[in-house]
Amino acid sequence: MASFLDKLEKPCHVVGSIAELCHEIAAGAGAAIVTEEAFRGNSIDLLQPVLSRQPSWSDFPLLILVAGGRVTAESERLRTLRQPLGNVLLLERPLRPEILVSTLDMALRGRARQYQIRDQMQQFERAQEALRRSEKLAVTGRLAASIAHEINNPLEALTNLLYLVRTETHSEEAQRYLMEAEQELARVAEITKHTLRFYREPNQPTQVDLVEVVDSVLALYHSRLVAAKIVVEKEVRVSSLSILASPGELRQVIANIVGNALDAMRHGGILRLRLSVTTRNGNPKARLSIADTGHGIPPEILSTIFEPFITTKGETGTGLGLWVSDEIAKKNGWSMQVYSCTRMSRSGTVFSILMPT
Ligand SMILES: Nc1ncnc2c1ncn2[C@@H]1O[C@H](COP(=O)(O)OP(=O)(O)O)[C@@H](O)[C@H]1O
Ligand SMILES: [Mg+2]
Repeated sequence: MASFLDKLEKPCHVVGSIAELCHEIAAGAGAAIVTEEAFRGNSIDLLQPVLSRQPSWSDFPLLILVAGGRVTAESERLRTLRQPLGNVLLLERPLRPEILVSTLDMALRGRARQYQIRDQMQQFERAQEALRRSEKLAVTGRLAASIAHEINNPLEALTNLLYLVRTETHSEEAQRYLMEAEQELARVAEITKHTLRFYREPNQPTQVDLVEVVDSVLALYHSRLVAAKIVVEKEVRVSSLSILASPGELRQVIANIVGNALDAMRHGGILRLRLSVTTRNGNPKARLSIADTGHGIPPEILSTIFEPFITTKGETGTGLGLWVSDEIAKKNGWSMQVYSCTRMSRSGTVFSILMPT
């Protein structure tokens, strides 16, 4: 029979026992043809659990070749035995080849359909997961905006109070501390303002000077750069470089990348920012590359870093920074590239963004 099926280009494996058949089912067989004699003894007890444990989309087709002729005690016993096997098609011997072929075709088509249903179920689950994630994200965004809003009022009060104290204090040391406190407070105010703006503003694009935005991001991270003993090397090959973009979005992308670079260089390192102009397909483009000498991105997550919720920072990471940056980049027609190396002696990461000028 195997050679007959082979001739019809229906690849088949011949197995010698029910145990082997169970293996083939697990390995993805489309259908099985079994003689009823194969169920002598307790071999049916092996097959039954395999078939009853099938996932909801699966109903494995079993073609059983039964002896023709009269009903006997043995044929009755076998009939009761195979009842729990589910999707069973009985074929009486002697069997006409065309009946075998058409029954087998029907079984295989049914099985292919089951696989289609499985794929659709998986697709549906993935879509639901994506939906859950984007809902979670929207909630996170709203939460961030409302926290920023709530923080704004006490911040203003604090700023005013600090100012009043400063005008009342004459000790030089106290004056210095108060100045520092005011600067830190101004930074917090700046962050809340940006968070609010990101969620409120439709973000109209204007001509933005890239050098200025880079500088404002460096100013934002000033104390972290100093604390981690990070050397900043800025290389700007043009006097000014304007692009049409929303300053808030541009700043957010650069701040996310620089923030990650700082996270990767907790014990010092070099942060290189390079701004240049190149031509792509005849069009001038601004290129900003941000390179660090940190620990690098683990190769196993490198291909997924732009997906939401991918983080190696445990509780402190959100895994949203690069995803948001990528969304912003896509929206604006920028392209982002990343190179990273985790090898001890020369580990580091480079992000570069190409933007139409
Ligand atoms: N410059 C970098 N150096 C090393 N790893 C990085 C760098 N930038 C990104 N990564 C990796 O990509 C992950 C995702 O980054 P991101 O989307 O900003 O989320 P988060 O910073 O909250 O973890 C980080 O957790 C980190 O593992
Ligand atoms: Mg980040």
